[in-house]
Amino acid sequence: MAGGPVPPPPAGPSDEAARARLRALMARGAAFLGSEYAILGGAMSWISERNLVSALSNAGAFGVIACGAMEPPRLAEEIAATQALTDRPFGVNLITMHPRLDALVQVCLDAKVGHIVFAGGIPPTPAIRKAKEGGAKVVCFAPALALAKKLVRSGADALVIEGSEAGGHIGPVSLNVLAQEILPAMAAEVPVFVAGGIGRGEAMVSYLEMGAAGVQMGTRFVCATESIAHPRFKQAFIRGAARDALPTVQLDERFPVIPVRALQNDGTKQFLVHQAEVIRRHQSGELDKTAAQLDIEHYWAGALRRAVIEGDVENGSLMAGQSVGMVTKEAPVAEILAELTAQAAAALTARAA
Ligand SMILES: Cc1cc2nc3c(=O)[nH]c(=O)nc-3n(C[C@H](O)[C@H](O)[C@H](O)COP(=O)(O)O)c2cc1C
Repeated sequence: MAGGPVPPPPAGPSDEAARARLRALMARGAAFLGSEYAILGGAMSWISERNLVSALSNAGAFGVIACGAMEPPRLAEEIAATQALTDRPFGVNLITMHPRLDALVQVCLDAKVGHIVFAGGIPPTPAIRKAKEGGAKVVCFAPALALAKKLVRSGADALVIEGSEAGGHIGPVSLNVLAQEILPAMAAEVPVFVAGGIGRGEAMVSYLEMGAAGVQMGTRFVCATESIAHPRFKQAFIRGAARDALPTVQLDERFPVIPVRALQNDGTKQFLVHQAEVIRRHQSGELDKTAAQLDIEHYWAGALRRAVIEGDVENGSLMAGQSVGMVTKEAPVAEILAELTAQAAAALTARAA
């Protein structure tokens, strides 16, 4: 939960007016999602499964299943299980480089999932077309203005702009800058949701006032009571500060490393040692460049699962955004949302004063 004093439960006409204003600011995003609040629970591999996703949707936000590396039958099972827990809308996040992307889109369409979020790269136009022709709304991540325009031309119905403050795989630009570059140009065309580092309602309001249709948050929901993340994973989040959630460090420009923001642990320290060792073996002629690159990439395979599911918080991957410092306890999704919306309403009341 967010640090600092929780605003007292406000009441009276000014709070009602502020909540009405918040609903107005969120109206377009909420209508697009079919939810009460224009708040997406950002898909998090291993964490965003039936329990957290249905809890988010049931509480008025919009849950998104993280497909990750799931095969089509496994995704179909997860969607059906989620539908059994909520009759409200939720989405599915598909990673564009998944070798069975087309089949995964079909699984979503067969299950009448209303929103498909394409992540992890620019989605192939045929995948966007198939999703739309099948009746789903398409949401894409736009890492820059030119790509935002291209994605909308290709059929994206909404965009997410995710700043480098976010947890997990990140781009190089902060949300502060992306929002200024992309919202004025794109907000009139399609709903744009903002993500990365959002931890309190005041920040939500600021982005909504800049033209965002809504927000997406991941880190803030990891310690939801309904999240299946291992207690040790949650404990690491509760202890973690913003400065502990750092992007992966690349040792040698010849061997690129995908930037992932995570809490530092033995695994991140060991990754530096591992890179140095692989580079040494490459220089001595023991490994060719391709083998060395693969060896570096392989280091984190399965690491998120080890931390989230098995609780290996020393060596696994503790993907977390900078907003981790605002996670201070485990709490039900409904309580987290109530706190965020109370903060947002208090900010709007203060503006009106
Ligand atoms: C543990 C973890 C796993 C994530 N996995 C995914 C994923 O599988 N697909 C994806 O598109 N984004 C993933 N994300 C990013 C979130 O969906 C979301 O955009 C991000 O958490 C927003 O930033 P915040 O953490 O500062 O709120 C992940 C984030 C975290 C913290």
